[in-house]
Amino acid sequence: MMNEILKSRSSSLDNYKEFTFSDSSKKDEHQVTIKILEDMFQLPGADYGTYIWPCAPILAQYVWQNKDLVRTQSILEIGAGTGLPGIVAAKCGANVILSDSNTKPLSLDLCRKSAELNGLKNVTVCGITWGEVTPTLTQLPPIDLILASDCFYHSKALKGL
Ligand SMILES: C[S@@+](CC[C@H](N)C(=O)[O-])C[C@H]1O[C@@H](n2cnc3c(N)ncnc32)[C@H](O)[C@@H]1O
Repeated sequence: MMNEILKSRSSSLDNYKEFTFSDSSKKDEHQVTIKILEDMFQLPGADYGTYIWPCAPILAQYVWQNKDLVRTQSILEIGAGTGLPGIVAAKCGANVILSDSNTKPLSLDLCRKSAELNGLKNVTVCGITWGEVTPTLTQLPPIDLILASDCFYHSKALKGL
């Protein structure tokens, strides 16, 4: 089960959405609440990757439902934007790398700040632009699982993937 609450604050980087994931079926109800920063207004920089797209909560819910499988995994999220699915995976115990394009520093910054906001030490953030072979890409540790939500949103984006 997932609940979403919008917390709007006055300053743009204090805008976050709160998501609560819970196991209502279990007797000792287990739940986590995740805060994800968004920034739709800061220019230049606000972009597709600075707010949460509709697939992200769905993928995050899938990750939560499979927390026993992801717990020990090394996970890379590509085109992470604000990073909700990866942050949920990290909250479940995975080692997570959140990535977005090298040209999107605001997304990368939001990912870093959301990881911090959720008290996560097992999240790193880096720039990975699809189709570009860089030292960051070639020096990634072995990855068990790649997460991607709403990355097929435009035909131009598909080429590099
Ligand atoms: C539609 S948004 C989805 C964001 C996030 N995954 C979500 O579901 O909320 C697409 C994401 O892909 C990223 N992206 C687009 N082209 C990219 C590229 N060539 N390399 C890396 N990331 C890219 C964008 O910066 C953006 O964060």
